[in-house]
Amino acid sequence: MTTKLAPLSERPSWKALQAHHDTIQATTLKQLFADDPARGERLTAEAAGIFLDYSKNRVTDETLGLLTKLAEESGLAERINAMFTGEKINITENRAVLHVALRAPKSESIVVDGEDVVPPVHAVLDKMAGFADRVRSGDWKGHTGKRIRNVVNIGIGGSDLGPVMAYEALKHYTQRDLTFRFVSNVDGTDFAEAVQDLNADETLFLVASKTFTTLETMTNAHSARDWSLAGLGGDEKAVAKHFVAISTNAKEVAKFGIDTANMFEFWDWVGGRYSMDSAIGLSTMVAIGSDNFRAMLDGFHEMDVHFRTTPFEKNLPVLMGLLTVWYTDFFDAQTVAILPYEQYLKRFPAYLQQLTMESNGKHITLDGEHVTTQTGPIYWGEPGTNGQHSFYQLIHQGTRLIPCDFIGFYKTLNPLGRHHDILMANVFAQAEALAFGKTAEQVKAEGTADWLVPHRVFEGNRPSNVLLADHLTPKVLGSLIALYEHAVFTQGTIWSIDSFDQWGVELGKVLAQKIIGELEGTDGAASTHDTSTTNLINRYKKNK
Ligand code: F6P
Repeated sequence: MTTKLAPLSERPSWKALQAHHDTIQATTLKQLFADDPARGERLTAEAAGIFLDYSKNRVTDETLGLLTKLAEESGLAERINAMFTGEKINITENRAVLHVALRAPKSESIVVDGEDVVPPVHAVLDKMAGFADRVRSGDWKGHTGKRIRNVVNIGIGGSDLGPVMAYEALKHYTQRDLTFRFVSNVDGTDFAEAVQDLNADETLFLVASKTFTTLETMTNAHSARDWSLAGLGGDEKAVAKHFVAISTNAKEVAKFGIDTANMFEFWDWVGGRYSMDSAIGLSTMVAIGSDNFRAMLDGFHEMDVHFRTTPFEKNLPVLMGLLTVWYTDFFDAQTVAILPYEQYLKRFPAYLQQLTMESNGKHITLDGEHVTTQTGPIYWGEPGTNGQHSFYQLIHQGTRLIPCDFIGFYKTLNPLGRHHDILMANVFAQAEALAFGKTAEQVKAEGTADWLVPHRVFEGNRPSNVLLADHLTPKVLGSLIALYEHAVFTQGTIWSIDSFDQWGVELGKVLAQKIIGELEGTDGAASTHDTSTTNLINRYKKNK
């Protein structure tokens, strides 16, 4: 059990950081670099194939010392240990938080409620591998005896964002004679467009849902069942060959009509947004093969070990988590931009949005009190260089401080003339421009008219991290995701919030259920709402 902590703003290191912030606020990155010729090499760290340059942050050694002190005073070491040993740290749901067990080697043992969870993890991985091999080789046949050509993952939130991100990220490694589609939105267009060019006799649906009760997923799964049976002559037996389930809820899977022999299990100690390396990653495994999937798990695990064993001042997730707390709470930064300079990572910012914001978008502490500081910032981003031609203007010259994470690779998977050098030159140029800017003197020296000078000045002093790795492999992807998972955990620990529940999504779900009845006419005319909602519902009903 973790000991009760002083409220965040009363911790000595927090108070010291407040005083320190006053002194550092006016210090520029330019000055910090001028004062320390070794800064660019010194403020770096490396683990699990990922190099982090955090030198372009508005920190001194004193800042970093105080931030690591804050981590210590916030009980981070104890919390890490509690997570890795299966303590029920998700207190509002009374659950262990063990996504780290999903990538634990066979030799490890992690006991929850008297059961070692590592053997079942590997049993499911083996079952997934057997299934993936059969689909990839053409051995798994559809109802009419044809081999499967199309795999459609149906899921939403963590049961979609991880799979779709990983599919896109690892496309280079996928079996190209298989088509993959991802259906998540309850908007019928999503399903209709996903299957419009597919044949039912060659199409396999993976219904991915931790609970197997999620409205969107169940609605899409039922439509998929209808579509599949319509294309296969209506024989119910076809379901066994064209549907598999990924869930923790065998009862609901059976109720839907999927044989539980075709179910891939995971466990309540895997949060939805932490589940892409569980059976929820089945589409990933079918796409890239089981060896590549296992390599991805190795990458996750390497970062887990680093997080668990490395002193805070050299610990990548801890450093990144603490820097986010620094900007969120002391510089009033409201967002973090995720800027991958790797086209394959185009869905990475969207994936991180759920990971970060569903985890740390909370205002009640573990002790049930209202927080006294800001918590989870807004994460957003687009792959470079596209963003440079749309929103970077605001990062460079807007009024808000936006810490940025640049992600780049030494090598590209698609060497093409000068492309990769040009791409990477932009990473270094953007981080340099944000940090050091361009003074009025420099602008004037270029012969700029006086009135135009202020418009062309770059103040600089805008912080960023640069993350570099060799090239995008399944292993590096695993390490990168684990890096952010643990950075989120570090933030949540400092803020003393439960990063693993998501009660904030419930109210809308309940209200939608009620309104569905009203829209479909089974619940009478809308009347029990506020006048705006009632009016909107009635207007929709009249015009639909
Ligand atoms: O509504 C939020 C949420 O519960 C997410 O946390 C989760 O990833 C998503 O819905 C999907 O849930 P499920 O996998 O149970 O369908």
